[in-house]
Amino acid sequence: MMNRKLLLYFALMVFGLYVMPNTVSIFAGQHTFYSSISCEKCHSDVLSQVEHSGYVYEKHKAAAGNTNYTTYLSLGGISYNGNSITDYNNNVWNWNASEQKWQNSSNPAEMVNVSLDTNRNGQIDSSEICMLCHNATLFGAGTHTGATVRVCDDDRCHGNRIYADNSPEILGSYSNITAAGYNLSQSNVHQAFYLQASNLSSSYGISETFGRIPGNANGSFISRGYWACEGCHTDIIVNITIPPPPSYNHSASNPEKKRYLP
Ligand code: HEC
Ligand code: HEC
Ligand code: HEC
Repeated sequence: MMNRKLLLYFALMVFGLYVMPNTVSIFAGQHTFYSSISCEKCHSDVLSQVEHSGYVYEKHKAAAGNTNYTTYLSLGGISYNGNSITDYNNNVWNWNASEQKWQNSSNPAEMVNVSLDTNRNGQIDSSEICMLCHNATLFGAGTHTGATVRVCDDDRCHGNRIYADNSPEILGSYSNITAAGYNLSQSNVHQAFYLQASNLSSSYGISETFGRIPGNANGSFISRGYWACEGCHTDIIVNITIPPPPSYNHSASNPEKKRYLP
């Protein structure tokens, strides 16, 4: 009796081991999934803001669904060339086509492929998109699945005046996307707004990324530089009062002629 039970147990174990890899690959699709808390349960107001941001929403949805990009973020990628990701420790991760994962060339047993599609329906849903900007682990800002705030001019999103850890190829596009913050900080008519705001603190504390202080920090806070981006890229309504110029004094019949000079 005992023996039959044991045999059955071993048989099941062997069967289990044999079947496991397939089962895992069917259900996990060779991806590591990052958390599945429904943010919208408590932040439904934010969800509707995100969903109504149109073009910006569509672009970030595409970025969140790009597993090359999410893996790059999770590894602390600093450069990408289509087939390999170099991380902040200078390890080179190559795409392993048979495993469908990125493999560490310094330690081949290490393989990853990170997806934010936690409900595995093949697309990024409104609530899954939150993780692109708020998941602490994805940005190497802690091993817990905490939420953090990362803003537009984060080093590995759209960059900032420091221009570090920023790979133009990662989004399959040109540097305007990953270096928007850097470009804005250079000779540009709107440079002053951005630099001025970059010297002020937002209310969000910085989270170190893989032990590094982000380039858009202002002391221990995220700088307000991203407000400049939001100014043009969202539908925020700004109240501006333009003071009228001082009126010209017509009482003197022979006033000194001057133009544009103090
Ligand atoms: C159980 C309710 C609840 C859930 C679920 C929840 N949050 Fe929150 N969250 C809160 C509360 C409460 C605050 C504090 C609000 C405040 O200070 O105005 C907060 C604050 C935040 C902040 C601001 C942090 C800061 O530094 O000011 C962010 C970002 C955030 N949540 C993102 C998320 C994301 C992303 C998710 C999904 C992974 C999530 N939250 C899920 C309740 C929740
Ligand atoms: C494209 C990046 C991005 C995405 C996607 C995103 N957020 Fe945010 N989130 C931000 C930024 C940037 C801020 C800081 C906003 C500010 O200060 O104007 C923020 C702030 C917040 C805050 C704090 C608001 C406060 O009053 O302090 C909460 C809560 C939050 N987000 C929740 C969410 C949730 C929930 C989702 C998904 C539905 C989401 N976010 C998607 C970038 C993002
Ligand atoms: C003065 C307004 C303004 C400010 C400030 C601004 N942008 Fe833009 N941005 C634009 C306009 C207009 C375009 C479209 C330009 C074009 O199509 O050539 C654009 C395009 C972009 C693009 C798409 C680039 C491309 O080539 O497709 C990104 C990404 C972007 N901005 C990010 C940012 C970020 C990040 C910031 C803040 C660091 C920022 N922008 C600040 C007005 C602005």
